[in-house]
Amino acid sequence: MSRPPLVRMGLGVLRQRLSGAPRPINVMISLTDRCSRRCDYCAIPDRRSPEPNTVQLLELLTELRRGGVHRVGFWGGEPLIRKDIGELLAHTRDLGLWTSMVSNGDLVPLRRDALTKLDHLLLSLDGRAEAHDRQRGPGSHAKVLDALAVARELGLGAWTLTVLTRHNLQDLPWLVELAEGSGHKAAFQVLHHPEALDDGRGQTLAPSRASLLRALRFLLDARRRGRPVANSRRQLQHLLRWTELGRPPTWMDPASPPCAAGTLFINIDTNGQMAPCSLLVGASGLPNVLDGGYQAALQGLPPPPCNQCVATAFTEYNLLFRLDPGVIADWVRDW
Ligand SMILES: C[S@@+](CC[C@H](N)C(=O)[O-])C[C@H]1O[C@@H](n2cnc3c(N)ncnc32)[C@H](O)[C@@H]1O
Repeated sequence: MSRPPLVRMGLGVLRQRLSGAPRPINVMISLTDRCSRRCDYCAIPDRRSPEPNTVQLLELLTELRRGGVHRVGFWGGEPLIRKDIGELLAHTRDLGLWTSMVSNGDLVPLRRDALTKLDHLLLSLDGRAEAHDRQRGPGSHAKVLDALAVARELGLGAWTLTVLTRHNLQDLPWLVELAEGSGHKAAFQVLHHPEALDDGRGQTLAPSRASLLRALRFLLDARRRGRPVANSRRQLQHLLRWTELGRPPTWMDPASPPCAAGTLFINIDTNGQMAPCSLLVGASGLPNVLDGGYQAALQGLPPPPCNQCVATAFTEYNLLFRLDPGVIADWVRDW
């Protein structure tokens, strides 16, 4: 696994802070809404948004690099469902963009050639077979384990990514042991916007506060003992304090630097719409990169209406981009 360009990203942060203008160094791109799975907590495959074609995406990636972006994260839907994924990854590699991807693993064996151009693969794994297949469909657990094996053969850095729900908290020790045994890292994220899932699905998936607290304490303790938990200690402390207090902890208060969504990281949705982050997709007044290009969209991007977040990745970015020494130490040690 290649290391993310932490020094170049750090310089990018300083440059943005000096200018004050939005200059993202990290861009998440949803490549498709199509997916081989229908997971309990995800409604993306139901959207069926139009997708940019290969040429539009290649041009966009070139423009991102020219605009100072260092890291790209592909997600969706299932990004490996796109037949042009090899071409897109070859292009990000040629441009010198460090590229990560979130996948359910189903198509990893089929796309192994394309994946040789990827820097980092996040494979969604929601616990042992029972909990995982319950949330992500029959047979999907075996496929993720196959995908992990293929990633190892390719020498590709792969992490697992687990959404914490009521059904899988008992499997956290197993997930950390699996990571120890196979030499990868295990990342964890809380359930987002459960209220937005129809049929009340979100409410049945959300863990109780007491069990989430126990889970977060377990992960923080594992992290402190040097076990392969990918979340930084600061990020886990943030989630834990938030859950304990029922509100954001003071060190992430509005008095502290604002959320870097829209300035240092952004999200580009399947239909080309730019949002400060993936949780703000669909907000009103968002620009589209397919209309006038990346730079024009960035100029028209409204700031996020919020400043606090339990979303794992965004808290991690915010701590990292404010150059929090504890988070930088965890990242440098890990990579
Ligand atoms: C939307 S999926 C897309 C990539 C790929 N199809 C997959 O399953 O990994 C990206 C990640 O978001 C997670 N996810 C989906 N819905 C979520 C939700 N409501 N809250 C938290 N994480 C969620 C998935 O488990 C997965 O790890």
